[in-house]
Order: sequence, then C-alpha cells, then structure tokens
Amino acid sequence: MQTSLHPLRRLRDLGGGSLAVEVDGPIPATLPGQFFMLRTGERWPVLLPRPFSLYDRADDGSWGSFLIKAIGPGTRALADTQPGEKIWLTGPLGRPFPPEERDPICVAGGVGLAPFLLLARQRHRQRQRTRLLFGGRSRAALAGIDDFAGIAEVHASTDDGSHGFRGMVTALLLDLLGKGTVRAGESVFCCGPDPMMVAVAKVCEQHGLRCFLSLETYMACGYGVCNGCTVKVQGPRFHGWPYSKTCTEGPVYEACELVHDH
Ligand SMILES: Cc1cc2nc3c(=O)[nH]c(=O)nc-3n(C[C@H](O)[C@H](O)[C@H](O)COP(=O)(O)OP(=O)(O)OC[C@H]3O[C@@H](n4cnc5c(N)ncnc54)[C@H](O)[C@@H]3O)c2cc1C
Ligand code: FES
Repeated sequence: MQTSLHPLRRLRDLGGGSLAVEVDGPIPATLPGQFFMLRTGERWPVLLPRPFSLYDRADDGSWGSFLIKAIGPGTRALADTQPGEKIWLTGPLGRPFPPEERDPICVAGGVGLAPFLLLARQRHRQRQRTRLLFGGRSRAALAGIDDFAGIAEVHASTDDGSHGFRGMVTALLLDLLGKGTVRAGESVFCCGPDPMMVAVAKVCEQHGLRCFLSLETYMACGYGVCNGCTVKVQGPRFHGWPYSKTCTEGPVYEACELVHDH
C-alpha cells in the first residue's frame, strides 16, 4: 500500500451520470476487487477519503481509472476535478476476488460494475472466459457496458426492457442457467446494491454455484484501524470471531461467510 498524488488525465463520460476518472500513473499492480481510498488534492469537502475499486489500468501502470457516480460530496468533488488537478490515491487495499476461480460469472448492478473491467482484461489475457451479467433499470443505467466489448461475454438486463433481457439480473441468471450458459459448480462474482447481492446469493445457493460478494461497506480509514467497516461473519477464516473488517479481510467474501440479521 502507498499514498501518492496523481494528476487527472481526463474524465470520460460513460452516460447515466457515471464517469471514468482517469489519472496519470504510476498505478501499482492491482488485483480485481482491490480498492483505493481517494480524495481530491484541493477542495476535498469531507474529512475522510472514500473507497473506490480500480476500474482500469494500463498494462504498464502509466494510467488508471475509477468508475464514479456522483451521489454525495466526495464523489461530486471527484467528478468536478479538472484536467491537471491532482487526486490522492492510497492503495491497493483489501482482498481481491479469488484469482484461482477460473472462468467466472460476474454479476453487476450500477457502479458495482467497477471491479469487473480489470478482471475481464486480466482473465482475457489468461485465455479465460468471463461472462458479465449487468443489470439496471434502463439502458442509461448500464454505464460502462461498452468497455467490455471483445473481452467478456456481455449479457445485459433492464427492468423496462430497453436493452437486453427484460427483468432483474437474478431472472437473467436463472435464464442463463436454464440455457446451460451458466452451470452448477461454476463461480459467481457479484458486486452491486445489497438487495441485489442477497438475491444473487440465494439463486447461487439454490443452483449449486459458488458465490463471492464484494461489499460496498461505508469505510473511514480503509486499512484496518478504525473498526468502522465491520460485518457479521462465520467460518474458519475468522477463527471463531463473529466480526470482520471489510477493508482488510474483505471487501470480497464468500456469500456463506456472511451472517444476516433477520
Ligand atoms: C470497496 C469499495 C469499493 C467501492 N467502489 C466504488 C466505485 O468503484 N464507484 C463508486 O461510485 N462507488 C464505489 N464505492 C462506494 C463509495 O465509496 C461510497 O458511495 C462513498 O461513500 C461515496 O462518497 P460521497 O462522499 O460521494 O457520498 P457519501 O456522503 O459518503 O454518501 C452519500 C449517501 O449514500 C449513503 N451511503 C454511502 N455509502 C453507503 C453504504 N455503503 N451503505 C449505505 N449507504 C451508503 C450515505 O449515507 C449518504 O446518504 C465503493 C465502496 C467500497 C467500500
Ligand atoms: S475502514 Fe477503518 S477499519 Fe476498516
């Protein structure tokens, strides 16, 4: 992990209010699912930096980008940055999607798409197959989908049927299971809003798929000192302790490790 200041290279409009915020390197080698804490060099409006998945990275690390949708003061400040202004990056942080799980099925909603571009690029280079299932309310909500052309098999779903499969991304997953495009025993990597991740984990459990979730927990420090990011967990990885810090032991967990309060 390191902290460094990077000039903004450009803002690339992905539609639907989302941007790829591209910064000059050097960007350290990063595994898909790992994240950086970001804040602008000037005029950062809040006390703490904010966590973002690395969206893309030049093979030589000469630039990197983050997929950002302005929803609050931190994301608005990043989206308002002008070329030449600088952004602080701390990272890479956290535990990635398991590299040993081959040919993953990636299920994304909204900015949950962010970890999967780097993943699709790396797996494509390793001659692996990446299936991307990307769901949104309408075509406009599928910001970033075009970036996957040629490196992943893209299956889109929209609630209003304006693009791809009509229905939720869980219905799309069931449809692909029915067609044999997705099969029992394979691994699903999922990132998106909590209700979507809960629903995807349930489908995976019912159909014999392993399921790994990347949590977008609110974080304060990003490297294990504040206890601001804990979730309830179970399983041998945690040695009997019922809580886990998502910034160091996550953000990626196997779905069966997470304990939900009902
Ligand atoms: C590992 C990780 C990777 C992430 N990657 C991305 C990414 O690639 N792109 C992206 O746009 N965002 C990403 N996020 C989410 C982003 O860091 C947060 O939404 C961040 O809080 C936004 O900061 P803000 O100052 O703009 O808004 P804030 O003021 O922090 O939040 C705006 C509103 O959203 C609510 N909110 C924020 N986060 C959460 C949460 N986790 N749970 C419930 N409510 C919440 C707040 O309560 C507030 O109402 C990631 C988060 C994590 C943990
Ligand atoms: S964000 Fe501080 S311990 Fe995880």
